[in-house]
Amino acid sequence: MRKILIAGNWKMNKNSAEASELAAEIAQTLGRQHEVDVVICPPFTALESAARAIENSGVKLGAQNMHPERSGAYTGEASAEMLRHLFATYVILGHGERREYFKESDEFINQKVLAALNSRLKPSLCVGETLEERESGKAFEVVERQVKAGLANVPADLADLVIIAYEPVWAIGTGKTATPDQAQEMHQFIRGHLPALLGEAQAQRTRILYGGSMKPANARELLRQDDIDGGLIGGASLEGRTFLQIVEAAAEVSR
Ligand code: 13P
Repeated sequence: MRKILIAGNWKMNKNSAEASELAAEIAQTLGRQHEVDVVICPPFTALESAARAIENSGVKLGAQNMHPERSGAYTGEASAEMLRHLFATYVILGHGERREYFKESDEFINQKVLAALNSRLKPSLCVGETLEERESGKAFEVVERQVKAGLANVPADLADLVIIAYEPVWAIGTGKTATPDQAQEMHQFIRGHLPALLGEAQAQRTRILYGGSMKPANARELLRQDDIDGGLIGGASLEGRTFLQIVEAAAEVSR
């Protein structure tokens, strides 16, 4: 009942010409298929060319970050309205790399989530523990804090736009994936907190994506878990063929 969502996070890769080429390959192959929701998230500088390349397809566009203010003296930043103007409908927020390298706090991420919702962008709130936190038995505590803080004060009428991505930091770009059981356990735990944050009915409808070294070889098994509703793909989304194989795996699981 929750439609699988496969999103490619291109991170700081692809200039606008390369993005256009990759986006066109994905859009042409998928056309208007509707079994799986597919989103690509190029860097800011390639949103416009990617948007053009996916026009007339079912592929949707997302950004990788945004600033919570609408406009102003925030050098180097972009607002929700600016992203919407480039046809983005999704935005990744609170990615592990933003938390680690740019010291983004849960409170700041929450402001972004609320601003995204206010502009009707679908925020994909990323949460996940570090290796140290997992090894010291703190994974659940950390993820609970990130989910509760990130989704504080979400208005009930916008709750259906929210997406969550569980990305254990130790699995990002490392080739180490959480086992399907480990991931399912955390996804179920996250869903358990959603009634209080988003409402009882919405809790069952909210998609929780898994991210961290997802690839064609492990996608099926992860996506078959009850509470895993999609994938946020980094490295494996940079090559059309590989990304499309993951979309195909997702379509198979949905049938
Ligand atoms: P990898 O798929 O490269 O591990 O990256 C995952 C990720 O960070 C997606 O947001």
